[in-house]
Amino acid sequence: MDSAPELVPDLLEKVTNLAKRRGFFFQTAEIYGGFRSTYDYGPLGANMLRQVRSAWWKSMVQGRSDVVAIDAAILGPPAVWAASGHLETFTDPLVDCLKCKERWREDKIDGVCPNCGSTQFTEPRAFNLMFKTQAGPVEGEGATAYLRPETAQGMFTNFNNVLATTRKKPPFGIAQIGKSFRNEITPQNSIFRTREFEQMEMEFFVPPADADQWYQYWITTRHQWYLDLGVPGELLRLHAHAKEDLSHYSKGTTDIEFFFPWGWDELEGVANRGDYDLTQHSKHSGARLEYFDPTTNERYTPYVIEPAVGVTRALMIFLLAAYHEDEVEGEVRTVLRLDWRLAPYQVAVLPLSKKPELETVSREVLAKLQRDFMCDYDVTQSIGRRYRRQDEIGTPYCVTVDFDSLEDRCVTVRDRDTTAQTRVPIDELVRHLHERTFLAV
Ligand code: GAP
Repeated sequence: MDSAPELVPDLLEKVTNLAKRRGFFFQTAEIYGGFRSTYDYGPLGANMLRQVRSAWWKSMVQGRSDVVAIDAAILGPPAVWAASGHLETFTDPLVDCLKCKERWREDKIDGVCPNCGSTQFTEPRAFNLMFKTQAGPVEGEGATAYLRPETAQGMFTNFNNVLATTRKKPPFGIAQIGKSFRNEITPQNSIFRTREFEQMEMEFFVPPADADQWYQYWITTRHQWYLDLGVPGELLRLHAHAKEDLSHYSKGTTDIEFFFPWGWDELEGVANRGDYDLTQHSKHSGARLEYFDPTTNERYTPYVIEPAVGVTRALMIFLLAAYHEDEVEGEVRTVLRLDWRLAPYQVAVLPLSKKPELETVSREVLAKLQRDFMCDYDVTQSIGRRYRRQDEIGTPYCVTVDFDSLEDRCVTVRDRDTTAQTRVPIDELVRHLHERTFLAV
């Protein structure tokens, strides 16, 4: 039995309120009453999404010579989804409550209607989660298109293109970050499960005999990624799926789970997809999706190990894990202890007053920092209030320009977590911050 980690009380409510108040995310079309389970990301959210993608890209693409990336289309023809199995099996079992007529996912309600408490339902029906649309002006089967429900299929359909253009050989991976769409029936819990979301997926092609070893490798590597970015180990656990719970394509799946305010739930999935996808697309398209090894003269269909996570879901857990309330100088403060690589702003430049001579130096400092860091600039309110505002959005460093700066050409660097202050010459500021960030990892 796992003992449940202790969380800040009302954590979900506090984080979603903060997200709205400070501009991480808002309901889509809020001025029209919102659009269920769809979110827009504000100035801070857009920055942070970019940081999350970038941290993943650095670890999964930039830092490896065995992974390349693609950026495939969102729209695709039905043939892709017939081959992948999504047309037939990407379904949820739906039931209607006979009393209040609400519609539910049968596997999520334990036989009791969450709306009215009735236990009387229709027989379950399979409901396909893909969004279907029309491409071009003529209606009919030939014009049907689907919005992709996962980015993964782009890696399989482009397998030969990537092999031919990169000369990679197994073991190697194809990565992609992009939007996916699912007509989720029970979207819930803020941005946890939405109908439009973004995924970061990587298909790692390996000789079949090495699949188990790579499966374990990717489970460990992906788990470590969250730890390295500051997520406490007690909020993460691994959950291997039972055979009967596996997706239609999977030979084995392990979820990296996070301890959400509602309990343990899926953050990321690592799956051994076997040769399912390449074999299916070979059969349906007629193209040979195999690898020919010139050293052994052997031709084989690689197995695929796939780590897959939602960008938005990752952003959510980073916010939940970072949210803290502590006391500074007798005052309760809210602080997001985000790793500097994930923070919407890494540095805030704060002139002590609005006096033009201070603003001139502050703008000079800002311009130096903006080349390497995402920076905020704030001249309003007292300096204490401005520190609190930066703490609340997770800015790791505040740089304060005061009247002494005009004389000694030094500024004060304040650390978010310790609130310690260090006086640093302006000419050494960029290097100083590099040492505390890029060079420290
Ligand atoms: N290609 C495999 C695949 O798509 P999945 O478990 O369905 O597997 C992978 O999705 C990850 O994508 C999930 O672990 C989750 O992080 C994210 N995800 C899936 N559906 C989502 C949704 N409706 N909203 C937000 N994120 C979602």
